[in-house]
Amino acid sequence: MSDQNAQKQAAAKAALRYIEDEMILGVGTGSTVNCLIELLPQVNLKGAVASSKVTEDKLRALGIDIIDLNFAGTLDLYIDGADEVNADLQLIKGGGGALTREKIVAAASNKFVCMVDASKSVEVLGRAFPVPIEVLPQARSYVARQLVELGGEPVYREGFVTDYGNLILDTYDLDVSNPIALEQTLNNIVGVVCNGIFAANQADVLLKASSAGVETILR
Ligand code: 5RP
Repeated sequence: MSDQNAQKQAAAKAALRYIEDEMILGVGTGSTVNCLIELLPQVNLKGAVASSKVTEDKLRALGIDIIDLNFAGTLDLYIDGADEVNADLQLIKGGGGALTREKIVAAASNKFVCMVDASKSVEVLGRAFPVPIEVLPQARSYVARQLVELGGEPVYREGFVTDYGNLILDTYDLDVSNPIALEQTLNNIVGVVCNGIFAANQADVLLKASSAGVETILR
C-alpha cells in the first residue's frame, strides 16, 4: 500500500469519530471517501445523503439507506475529501466531477469534515490543481472565453458528463489568491452551474494525514 493510500485510510478512520448513532450522514465522493465508506459498517446510520451516483451505489451495496436531500432537512455532518486545501480550510474540489452535488450537500450540512492526505495542503489554491467548473453544455465555448478573459486556461474534460448532464472545464492559471471573490466571480458567469472553489462554505474540520499521523485542524 502506498504511503498516500495509507494516509487516506488513516484520515478516513479519524473521521469515524464525528459520526453519531442514528445520524443521516452526508457522504462525499472520491478515493478518500471510498476508504470511509468501507468503514461505515462499523457505525449505525439512519441513512445517507450521497454526493454522487458512484457514492450512492457504494453505499447501497453496503445496505445503507439513501435519503433524498429534499427529505433529509439540514444534515448534522458532511464528510468529504478535497483536491487542495489552504490554511483557512478553503478547498478546491471536483477532481472527480461531483462538485455541484458536493457543494449542495456541504451547504445543507451543519458541519463539514474534510479528510486529506499530505499532498493536498497548499499555500495558495489553484497553482498546481486546476479549478473544475461545471457548465451547461450549450454554454461551454462562451464560458471558456470568459475564463480566458479572467486569465485562466480552460481545458475541456473530454468524455466526461456530470451526474446532472453537464460538462467540466478544468481551468488552470486562475488567480485564486482571494478564493471567496473568485468563487463569486465564477458563479456570476452565465452558463456556469458551479465551480470547485469551496471558500464561502469552507471545511469546518480538516483531518490532515501525513506519515506522522492525523492532525485535526479546526476552522
Ligand atoms: C470529487 C472530489 C474529491 O473529493 C476530490 O477529487 C478528492 O478525491 P480523492 O479523495 O480521490 O483524492 O472533489 O469531486
